[in-house]
Amino acid sequence: MKKTVLITGTSSGIGRASVRYFAQQGWNVAATMRSPEKEANRGADSLGTLPNVQLFRLDVQDTASIRQAIADARAAFGGIDVIINNAGYGAVGPFEAATPAQIQQQFDTNVFGVMNVIREILPYFRERRGGSILTVTSMGGLITFPIYSIYHGTKWAVEGFTEALSFELKPFNIRVKNIEPGAIKTDFYDRSQDVLTQPGLTDYDRYVAVTMANSQQAGADAPGPEVVAKTLFDAANDPSDRLRYVSGNSQTRALLFMRRVLPLRWFHGLVKRVVEKGYQA
Ligand SMILES: NC(=O)c1ccc[n+]([C@@H]2O[C@H](COP(=O)([O-])OP(=O)(O)OC[C@H]3O[C@@H](n4cnc5c(N)ncnc54)[C@H](OP(=O)(O)O)[C@@H]3O)[C@@H](O)[C@H]2O)c1
Repeated sequence: MKKTVLITGTSSGIGRASVRYFAQQGWNVAATMRSPEKEANRGADSLGTLPNVQLFRLDVQDTASIRQAIADARAAFGGIDVIINNAGYGAVGPFEAATPAQIQQQFDTNVFGVMNVIREILPYFRERRGGSILTVTSMGGLITFPIYSIYHGTKWAVEGFTEALSFELKPFNIRVKNIEPGAIKTDFYDRSQDVLTQPGLTDYDRYVAVTMANSQQAGADAPGPEVVAKTLFDAANDPSDRLRYVSGNSQTRALLFMRRVLPLRWFHGLVKRVVEKGYQA
């Protein structure tokens, strides 16, 4: 019997690549997004044209839309085996430049959005005594980089939340798995970014210009989202209790390895050498 996955944030990037990959592997895919009506304008590129894929509206901040999408996907495909929390974006800039609304929005999407989706799927997964909850966190949920403090706050929160959650869900055969991508070339570094600036706050400008340029370059040089789609697929098919799956290039793996083995001060020296390259205090 075909398996079914429901994925959030499939209008672009990792979510979109994952819809294609899971469908190619013969899975049913409930591709959810905030504005599915826009897919109609994408012609042959529309996800709706793929076999075994159906589109549903889902905004992770709108509980009713999550409930409806889950109900509709279950009705369309006869069940859901795996849910992928992918929707998210990054606020970038100095913390001091962020408004309370920007901080709230970042946590509403990346943290409370994930919790909203998990809360809505749990009664169903618990009743059927099975299911997998995959969440696209980030290597930024395990290490940090300059000018992404709020984003890291959200991803570290999700890492802690899901790790703890895995204990109580194990008796119900519900697997919790986090996928931690390194830099991946998507709209994350472009249209999805929330750049934090404040008129008159110029003291950070030189630091932000350098670190932002280096981060953007990392995004431009990064592998495409198909790499993460494959990791998600492997995790979805992994019956073990493994919690974390790193995804990305060799630099991603090297960084996470060094974070484990080096004292934090040395590790931060490495991060600075890369991200602050060209900056003079
Ligand atoms: N790219 C990277 O380097 C990288 C690295 C590590 C982790 N990640 C994580 O990977 C995930 C996917 O990002 P991406 O790189 O694929 O970037 P992306 O191309 O910008 O995709 C982000 C997706 O999230 C959706 N989204 C945003 N807010 C939403 C909401 N309230 N409800 C539903 N969907 C919403 C966007 O939909 P709209 O079209 O409606 O805006 C878009 O489809 C994010 O969680 C991100 O933090 C990315």
